[in-house]
Amino acid sequence: MAYSSATIEPDLSDIDSVYPDSVNDANCTTSITSSALNYQYHSYHEGEYLLPNDEQEQDRLDLSHHIYLMLLKGELHRAPVENPGRVLDLGTGTGIWAIDFAEVPPNCKFEVDDFEQPWNYNAPFDYIHGRELEGAIRDHKQLFQQAFDNLKPNGWFEMATFEVNTMSDDGTHLKSTYLLNSVKNIYASARSFGKAMHSVPSWSDWIKKAGFVNVREEIYKLPQSPWSKDPEFLELGKYHQLNMLEAMPSYTYALFTRVLRWERVEIEALLAGVRRELRDLSNHLYTRVYMIYGQRPP
Ligand SMILES: C[S@@+](CC[C@H](N)C(=O)[O-])C[C@H]1O[C@@H](n2cnc3c(N)ncnc32)[C@H](O)[C@@H]1O
Repeated sequence: MAYSSATIEPDLSDIDSVYPDSVNDANCTTSITSSALNYQYHSYHEGEYLLPNDEQEQDRLDLSHHIYLMLLKGELHRAPVENPGRVLDLGTGTGIWAIDFAEVPPNCKFEVDDFEQPWNYNAPFDYIHGRELEGAIRDHKQLFQQAFDNLKPNGWFEMATFEVNTMSDDGTHLKSTYLLNSVKNIYASARSFGKAMHSVPSWSDWIKKAGFVNVREEIYKLPQSPWSKDPEFLELGKYHQLNMLEAMPSYTYALFTRVLRWERVEIEALLAGVRRELRDLSNHLYTRVYMIYGQRPP
């Protein structure tokens, strides 16, 4: 599968909706010391992060973690880091990535902080990682510069995110008008709040401009429902369909009521359409997952 622009073949033999099976436990890898920033950022800077952070969202983040592991064949990163001693995970959420990366709890320390404020670490890092932070960043260029400045020479920086979008190779996403409308309004509300949710295609350029070298951008296709003939994409589609069904209500409510001032009934009508489109397996929907990494020069 890996990163490629190859077309995903749909399974046309059965277009009934399929519900995901239960989620298995994630695997873990590597061993290091990890210092995790801003574990409980919500309570620290009330109102600066509009996206959900309740128990349901935390379960969903663990589901996203599982999807990343599936995409990366059990790995936790793409940057070619080897035995890094000091690692920072930005916006760590439930901490699931950091805990897996650190392997054993004593290696992992959580700190509550705002990654958009000046960092005051007394020692530079070997590796700085941030995942699923689209919509959490007001000033990307400043953040990428701080990452650069806080790395050791040859240290790696990596950012990973699902693109907030819906697309297809055969044009069937164009039938998904509720989803397309949601995406359009998520972009508009996030832009108006000042934390864009459609900026990831620019990240690799901004990372290069911060001074990083050996920058690579890898793009993986992630089906949004189980419509594929390929067993791996089918499995990914099962999990991500559930992920989308969980994310869409909480994200649209968070943004559309507070920023766009939509009424509950308007959001419910939109979500009913979104659910229908996600369950209609004649829509061959996918989004892209970006893994971008670069190295501080010697
Ligand atoms: C969508 S979650 C991703 C969590 C985690 N990285 C993962 O992949 O599971 C985004 C996280 O970033 C945190 N966050 C948002 N803005 C932040 C900021 N300015 N400083 C620190 N943390 C922030 C939120 O509290 C939330 O936990």
